[in-house]
This record gives sequence, C-alpha cells and structure tokens, in this order.
Amino acid sequence: LSVVVLISGGGSNLRALLEAAADAEYPARVVAVGTDRPEAEGLTHAEDFGVPTFEVALSSFETRDAWGDALLEQIRQWNPDLVVLSGFMRLLPAHVVDALAPHLINTHPAYLPEFPGAHGVRDALAAGATQTGASLIVVDNGVDSGPIIARERIAIVPGDTETSLHERIKPVERRLLIQAVLDIANGNLDLKELSKA
Ligand code: GRF
Repeated sequence: LSVVVLISGGGSNLRALLEAAADAEYPARVVAVGTDRPEAEGLTHAEDFGVPTFEVALSSFETRDAWGDALLEQIRQWNPDLVVLSGFMRLLPAHVVDALAPHLINTHPAYLPEFPGAHGVRDALAAGATQTGASLIVVDNGVDSGPIIARERIAIVPGDTETSLHERIKPVERRLLIQAVLDIANGNLDLKELSKA
C-alpha cells in the first residue's frame, strides 16, 4: 500500500509510520511526505528515511482553492493508495477531500465526536473532562466529523497540562494509525464500506 502523509509540525505520528514501514513485513510504504509549512520539523523524519518531501505553503497562493489544487497535484504525482493527515493543521478545500475520499484518513487527539477541531486536547482539559481519547477517522467535509475507524479512551489525570496529556495521547494515536494502515493494506478494513455506512 503506498501512502502519502501530510504534516504541519513535529511529525511524531509520521515517524512511527516510517519506522513501521521500514520493516519489510509491513505491507505499506510511505512514498512521500507533504506539508503546508516548509519549516515543519517533521520533514527531518522523512529525510532520515530517504522519503521525498513536498511543501505547498498556503501563503504562496491567492486562494485556498488554488492552494488545494496545488496540494492535490503534488499528492497525485505519487499516485498513493492512501493519504494520511497526521498533525496536518489545515482544513482541506471540499474539492480536495472529494477527490481523495475515502482514501483520506486523519488522526485526532480526542475521543471523537468529543472535542473536534484544532485544540482537542486543550478543549478536553478546559471542559474539566476526566477522560478523553485518540481517534482515527475518514476525512469528510466537516471538521473531524467523518466515519470513525478506531478510537480509544485515555484518562485525564489531575495536574495534567495540555502538553502532558497530549504526550500521553500521541502514542495511542500512533498505535491506532499503524494498525489501521496495516488493516487497510491487508484488506481487513475497507474505507469505501466504512464511508457508506
Ligand atoms: C497529533 O496529536 C495530531 O492528532 C494532532 O496534532 C498532533 C501532531 O503531532 N492533529 P505530531 O506532529 O504527529 O507529533
């Protein structure tokens, strides 16, 4: 299974996928890594594994749609079976989602549909929740509103900060992501079927 991963930041989830894919037994390969932020630290993980990268900065385009078109063009060059958004902090224009769906999944640091959006960890803490989670979904045209592939509860402990809680969530996200990509590659998870339900 060929995978393109889009990131905006540190790319710890990307690194986990690169490490898993380095095992010849794992039936998926990261063929390229894209970002909207040329300074994304996660690009170094792609470089460490010899995976090509591409940058499509929003600021280089007059409109979001033009940015989306350029991003889609870059993605299509790699003809991936799956696109993974992992720490990608932009909403994709609807025509980009439509072009890639349902082979477009996203990791989210909350127990969706709880706490969608760009600050899921902060929102859970602010709500005084005693538990949150990690989720993997199929991207649709809403915000973190697509069909849920997998999700797992994570306790919030007294004294948790956004950072401490997020660092406890990420390993769970990574595990869910590695497993889901494996299941998709093995045919045990059909994103088309999931999206129809
Ligand atoms: C992850 O928790 C992801 O779900 C969220 O931002 C975080 C990015 O982490 N959107 P990293 O860049 O993979 O380290």
